Amino acid sequence: MLRMRTRLLFSGFEAGQGWFQACLTGLAALFLLMLSAPATADTISELRSPNGQIKIEAGELGGRPFYRVSRADKPVIANSRLGFMLADQPKLDGGFAVMATERASGNETWEQPWGEARYIKNHYQEMTLQFREGEGRKRTYSVRFRAFDDGIGFRYEFPDQAGLQTVQIAEEKTEFVIAEPGTAWWIPAGEWNRYEYLYQRTPVKEVPQVHTPMTIRTASGLHLSFHEAALVDYSAMWLRRVEGQRFVSQLSPSANGPKVVREAPFNTPWRTIQISPDAAGLVTSHLILNLNEPNALGDVSWVKPHKYVGIWWEMHINKSTWGSGPTHGATTVNAKRYIDFAARHGFRGVLIEGWNVGWDGNWFGGESGFDFTKAYPDFDLEAVAAYARLKNVRLIGHHETAANVANYEPQLDAALKLYARLGVDSIKTGYVADAGGARVQGADGVVRHEWHDGQAMSRHHLHVVKEAARQKIAINAHEPIKDTGLRRTYPNWVAREGARGQEYNAWGSPTNPPEHEVNLVFTRLLSGPMDYTPGIFQLKPTLGQNQVLTTLSKQLALYVALYSPIQMAADLPEHYEANMAPFQFIKDVPTDWEETRVLNGEVGDYVTIARKDRNSQDWFLGAITDENPRNLTVGLSFLTPAKTYRAHIYRDGPKAHFKDNPYPIVIETRNVTSRSSLPLALAPGGGQAVRFEAME
Ligand code: NOJ
Ligand code: CA
Repeated sequence: MLRMRTRLLFSGFEAGQGWFQACLTGLAALFLLMLSAPATADTISELRSPNGQIKIEAGELGGRPFYRVSRADKPVIANSRLGFMLADQPKLDGGFAVMATERASGNETWEQPWGEARYIKNHYQEMTLQFREGEGRKRTYSVRFRAFDDGIGFRYEFPDQAGLQTVQIAEEKTEFVIAEPGTAWWIPAGEWNRYEYLYQRTPVKEVPQVHTPMTIRTASGLHLSFHEAALVDYSAMWLRRVEGQRFVSQLSPSANGPKVVREAPFNTPWRTIQISPDAAGLVTSHLILNLNEPNALGDVSWVKPHKYVGIWWEMHINKSTWGSGPTHGATTVNAKRYIDFAARHGFRGVLIEGWNVGWDGNWFGGESGFDFTKAYPDFDLEAVAAYARLKNVRLIGHHETAANVANYEPQLDAALKLYARLGVDSIKTGYVADAGGARVQGADGVVRHEWHDGQAMSRHHLHVVKEAARQKIAINAHEPIKDTGLRRTYPNWVAREGARGQEYNAWGSPTNPPEHEVNLVFTRLLSGPMDYTPGIFQLKPTLGQNQVLTTLSKQLALYVALYSPIQMAADLPEHYEANMAPFQFIKDVPTDWEETRVLNGEVGDYVTIARKDRNSQDWFLGAITDENPRNLTVGLSFLTPAKTYRAHIYRDGPKAHFKDNPYPIVIETRNVTSRSSLPLALAPGGGQAVRFEAME
């Protein structure tokens, strides 16, 4: 309406009236503009990022809430609708007007207790639009938009209001219409194997229903990552392509009917789009963390980044078993062997899987019902814990729940207290079951089969993390819900799996291809730390059947390329002690960083990351490539000027190749400064790891 009036007035001007009349006409137009705010149709407000490059426009078109995004005046997201379908009321869709527009901004630098960078800048402009239905129920909700220099986020906020007190969301209808054609990297959502798929690369217009983060490189070279931040008491958002380049949110299902049920007031998670001119910028963007709430736990100095070893790979390669019997892995004797090894080589943690009753028979999916306080008879938990204390090593607890949450939650308190009493300050949890097979007890006492990333499981994971925090215990969840940056609020949620990990190289069919880890850096790892468990030295672990499709040198580079505050040296002690020279890099590499630089990289092809140790002046570098060899050169200007560093270089040796010649590795040292440059010669499926040791 507003636009129509303006157009009519200006057409009078074009018809050639005199200047005086034209002025009057202009004034009248201005007057009308002022009178008609807030308008009832086509109200559009604009928000720009601090540097002005990224622009969000949002409001309503014909009564339908919408938004669009551009960067440097080029469309990134075309007009995309916002709204909800409700289970017990008409949908929240059309007939809305913008009742109020509030603006705010933020500019702070906050400190991570541990992380890939110590200081994080959080600089944004904010705009909140309050939408209200004009007719009928007059329901209202707001959308809070934030524009950062590295992308945008927005969330829905449901206020306290009569008539929409218990909000039963049948489906969220948030659209993402990608303006340009492009290439996408994604894994399918809604399939049985949760997040454990190989990343696919397709044109955007061929993407099906996928998990986030989804990464896109547009035709003009822009890099986008679609994800969410602060997934709390809500169902995870999948993205479903409807047509062309139009995606719509698809919430993970609930066995209860509506996908989300919440009492107002509440906010949804943030819907996020990271936007970068290059692939590297996605990795160094902290937008997801910035959209999470600050640390809610207070002093978390008890959360210790660390490296660990454990009774783990030997089960995956069938050398021993989780279950009881003659080949049981978690025996007192074997545990002491690993503790000795950890103490000898300076590892803080020793993970012990298969120690507790419940692994015999069909444990997958929670059939056997694990006992989280009862050890197998050949595993003396008290004695092993005492031995670990003696050797100054920490046991890492293990709770494989097989996604039988109904069996786990009643035992949680006792299980955490047992570990806390024994000095165990981190636990690996596990939820092995097919998607949709998590057993969760509802408020009505009925146990239902839920999805690993639905509202029920988002509640469960946070419940465990909060209860563990009370005992000063850190959590590393496998087969988890995806990471949405909650480590900022709950820094004891240190890592998780949530993708195909190293374990697939023991028994996967196929195993992880050479491009897999490079794909992870630009997809899964954008959501947060991953417990990938690098460091396999015996690359044909199962006598000719399965093979780890990397060179040995690449296994070292993964410790820098794949960020996690906990990193496992996953192979067997004997394989390390037979290869002490390359093992030295694993012993030296830290897990807590002052800062991170991405020196080069292309999604799915290669990447080089440099990180500065938080507890020394040393820098570390990891470069990895896919199946193609690469010759790259990196400048070392990140090093402190005028300082000399001894570079300990671990690189692929002559003719190294992931397929049939993975072992050649050259280990050499040379002195460098910030003015030096370093050639990186990566073999097919190869990598290079460097420690820059600061000299006095
Ligand atoms: C799957 C986990 O990813 C793996 O690390 C663990 O060993 C097994 N479940 C058993 O809990
Ligand atoms: Ca797994």
